[in-house]
Amino acid sequence: MFSMIQIGAHKLKNNVFLAPMAGITDAPFRALCAKEGAGFAASEMISSDTLLFATAKTKHRVERVNNGLPHAVQIAGSDAQSMADAAALNVAHGADIIDINMGCPAKKVCNRAAGSALLEHPKLVEDILAAVVKRVDVPVTLKIRTGPDAATRNGVAIAQIAERNGIACLAVHGRTRADRFKGHAEYNTIADIKQSVSIPVIANGDITNVNEAKTVLALTGADGIMIGRAAQGNPWIFREVSAHLAGLPIPEKPDSQTIYHALFDHVNGLHELYGEYRGLRIARKHIAWYCKGMRNATEFRTQAYKLETAKEQLALISTFFEHPDMFEAAA
Ligand SMILES: Cc1cc2nc3c(=O)[nH]c(=O)nc-3n(C[C@H](O)[C@H](O)[C@H](O)COP(=O)(O)O)c2cc1C
Repeated sequence: MFSMIQIGAHKLKNNVFLAPMAGITDAPFRALCAKEGAGFAASEMISSDTLLFATAKTKHRVERVNNGLPHAVQIAGSDAQSMADAAALNVAHGADIIDINMGCPAKKVCNRAAGSALLEHPKLVEDILAAVVKRVDVPVTLKIRTGPDAATRNGVAIAQIAERNGIACLAVHGRTRADRFKGHAEYNTIADIKQSVSIPVIANGDITNVNEAKTVLALTGADGIMIGRAAQGNPWIFREVSAHLAGLPIPEKPDSQTIYHALFDHVNGLHELYGEYRGLRIARKHIAWYCKGMRNATEFRTQAYKLETAKEQLALISTFFEHPDMFEAAA
């Protein structure tokens, strides 16, 4: 059992966060996770450089959505001034919360010393956090890794800088930047961070089910947990974990009809948001995730990847769930 998290004026309905994932946690997916019980869901990251150009790609990421959760937009960048500008622009577009990304190990971000590369530069971290918090009158949250590498797990120092500069909530992925996604997340540093600050700390990394959620909370003493990859194709993980952590019975796994309707609506939402060409391409990976492990999923996936119209894609989803036998692979 843990206490309620408040971020500025926003009282979260529970302490189970969806992790921001570029290319995945767009508005349709966040809406679905919110419906299935996520207590918080920041947008995919937006580079502070490209934000100002307002490309179609960026617009999709910042667009205000009404999913019952505070609208949190994540920004990444390495220059305090442009980060503050990006934050202000997002608030003007309706962001309720600004989330700063200092956790991404991606080359594209790190070559410009953004994302987790910033952890090597505590002074720059401080400048960015101070500039953003000063510029906007909404709460600012931060996502970090435990440090640049195993020899420098400076997460505690970064967390203290965050608290000192008015960050309202801190999410920590239990890997260093050098780890990328290798090995298993490590929770001791998150526990140390939790001990060293009084702002809410959210533990992240490799939580895939209700028991792991409970274990990570116990190991870290964190105020909440954040789930990323385990939610892909499985937004129901939020209702399971939030119920379990609240001491309630764990809801049944979704039946095939529930998965069908969620996938259909999700894919439809992607077509609407991105248009047919991009929408159906983005939908392909989600289709694969939702049907993972189902009978005849391989053949369904193979066929789904070949389709070039939104209408055909939706029709194939219906056919798979209504007549799975039609996807028996040819011998
Ligand atoms: C495909 C993908 C995209 C990601 N994009 C972002 C991002 O935009 N911003 C961010 O802070 N973290 C990003 N992350 C990191 C996740 O938020 C999370 O910290 C990481 O996946 C570990 O959590 P998990 O084990 O529950 O997946 C991404 C991760 C993945 C797998």
